[in-house]
Amino acid sequence: MLLDKALIASLLGLTASSTARIIATDEVPLIGPSFLSNFDPSNSSAINHAKSQFPGLIDNLFSTGELNRTDLAFHIDVFSAATNKSIYRYSHVGENSKISLTSGELNDKTISRIGSVTKLFTVYAIIAKAGIEVFAHPVTRYLPELAGNSDSEPLDSIRWEDITVGALANQQAGSGGVADFLTEYVDLDKPLQYSPEDLLKFFRNERKPVISPFRNAVYSDGGFAILGQVLARLLGKTYREAVQEVLFDPLGLESMSTTVPTGSNLNVIDRRSIDKNTSWAGDVEIVASTGSYYSNAADLRAAGLAILNSELLSPATTSQWMKPSSGTGSLVELVGAPWEISRLEIPVTPGSNRTRISDLYTKAGGNVDYTSIFALSPDHVGETFIPAAEYAAAENARRNLAGTFVDEASPDTNLTLSVDRGHPGLGLKSFWIKGNNARDHAHWRLYPTGLNSLSRSLSSLYRTKGTLRVAHRMVEPQPQIKSRAAVEGGKGGLFDNSFVWMNLEFVGPADEFIFNLVDGRLVSVEYPISGSVLKRV
Ligand SMILES: *[C@@H]1O[C@H](CO)[C@@H](O)[C@H](O)[C@H]1NC(C)=O
Ligand SMILES: *[C@@H]1O[C@H](CO)[C@@H](O)[C@H](O)[C@H]1NC(C)=O
Ligand SMILES: *[C@@H]1O[C@H](CO)[C@@H](O)[C@H](O)[C@H]1NC(C)=O
Ligand SMILES: *[C@@H]1O[C@H](CO)[C@@H](O)[C@H](O)[C@H]1NC(C)=O
Ligand SMILES: *[C@@H]1O[C@H](CO)[C@@H](O)[C@H](O)[C@H]1NC(C)=O
Ligand SMILES: *[C@@H]1O[C@H](CO)[C@@H](O)[C@H](O)[C@H]1NC(C)=O
Repeated sequence: MLLDKALIASLLGLTASSTARIIATDEVPLIGPSFLSNFDPSNSSAINHAKSQFPGLIDNLFSTGELNRTDLAFHIDVFSAATNKSIYRYSHVGENSKISLTSGELNDKTISRIGSVTKLFTVYAIIAKAGIEVFAHPVTRYLPELAGNSDSEPLDSIRWEDITVGALANQQAGSGGVADFLTEYVDLDKPLQYSPEDLLKFFRNERKPVISPFRNAVYSDGGFAILGQVLARLLGKTYREAVQEVLFDPLGLESMSTTVPTGSNLNVIDRRSIDKNTSWAGDVEIVASTGSYYSNAADLRAAGLAILNSELLSPATTSQWMKPSSGTGSLVELVGAPWEISRLEIPVTPGSNRTRISDLYTKAGGNVDYTSIFALSPDHVGETFIPAAEYAAAENARRNLAGTFVDEASPDTNLTLSVDRGHPGLGLKSFWIKGNNARDHAHWRLYPTGLNSLSRSLSSLYRTKGTLRVAHRMVEPQPQIKSRAAVEGGKGGLFDNSFVWMNLEFVGPADEFIFNLVDGRLVSVEYPISGSVLKRV
């Protein structure tokens, strides 16, 4: 896991230096993007800066020995749903790894193992096949063989009737690892010695619970072996056939497989020639659902875009899926199904020492000598240069959203939107309603709500062309949070006493603004409560 931590740190690390200390912004913004995300970030100066810095960051990790220059081979792809394309690619092939590249190079199409990133696709397939409502169903509804464990000692056995599909997907079933099952049943040098029934029998009769159900998240390979059988049962096929039918074929993921790619002209990282202990080609079908996939960057990108663009799941289901369902012992690590969510504090505007929270949805995986990380940032047009993308959004907001807007029919109704250093979202620099100075609102902030006229598809959030109406809400910051909690950079004790998220439309829709965009540029603002349309001047 050393590799992924180091790489994630450098993907995110561009800005850490600008925030010596976390001072959470006083506005307590809604969680989610600060600004609209429907712009093409690939040519923004912030992203261009990130691109130019990145090789130096990697070089630094080589020099400090955090990454091994001669041994490692890795490929990084940063992509955006605004273009459905890569923004940035980086490849490194260490001298000692050259021989493992069967095509002679490492590129977008080179297939590697992706380990437990697999788990994300097992859950994706289950939701795509059966809907997210299966999360509420007891797993015994699909795998009745797990029911009826006669052992009544709670320390010794799992009562599978209490375990839901969601508990398994969210890593909250206490179902433990799978190593002891493999030790008992699998010998790679011999033909198949077990069946799915053996797996279920083992987990019903022999598996000791690790935690009680839903207590908290505890990583479970065993749970994902069981989930693989849930998917298989849902389709009445093997797991391998099921993911092919539900995910790989519909999304055109030609490189993705649960078993080692074969044939001629392969473009893969096959490490058998340099490491006799390699996990390459060590395929055990019964645990295919927990950590056995092979994939290339192109297919991971396609899958990520499919998620962000709500291709297989409805937008509402996608948003429900991309939420934390448990905390951990760390303030910055949350767990979903089975998202590993990094809670980041990022500067609200470039160079600011005030931060806002942004959640990065990742799933990491490793198979002995292979490591993979998959990360989606819905706040940021699906990229991974997080702070750079945040800055690009601010840059875009300054260029295309900020400005003065006047009601032509009644010029004494007008407003000026601003991007303000050190503050999240858009500011109301001035706001006149029929000659009355709504200066009370001068410190309020406007945040996008994700609602737009084009469609409910999440892909419309990244639409850069055409006309689009998007809703914003004006949010009143907490008047002077007296004692911000210490973890938020304040001097207070346990709580912030911030109620910002509770106040939207509390006294009616006077906080709603509709933005009319043409090719990403804000041309007019509607203020529905007064029936005004304010045009850019
Ligand atoms: C990228 O930005 C530069 C400078 O702002 C501009 O000259 C160039 O045309 C842009 N390229 C694209 C493809 O938009
Ligand atoms: C990289 O790995 C090789 C082989 O494992 C080792 O000999 C070498 O010292 C390592 N290099 C660094 C900089 O750690
Ligand atoms: C990206 O793909 C989605 C479909 O998944 C599509 O709706 C959207 O228009 C595409 N965007 C661009 C810029 O091609
Ligand atoms: C392979 O595994 C064996 C047994 O664990 C170990 O002794 C050996 O050093 C390993 N070889 C390599 C190249 O890592
Ligand atoms: C944060 O930035 C503001 C504005 O630039 C400055 O006045 C303030 O001293 C800074 N605070 C810290 C703790 O650096
Ligand atoms: C906005 O309205 C106020 C009050 O009528 C007026 O003083 C101001 O000049 C107007 N601003 C613009 C840009 O029209």
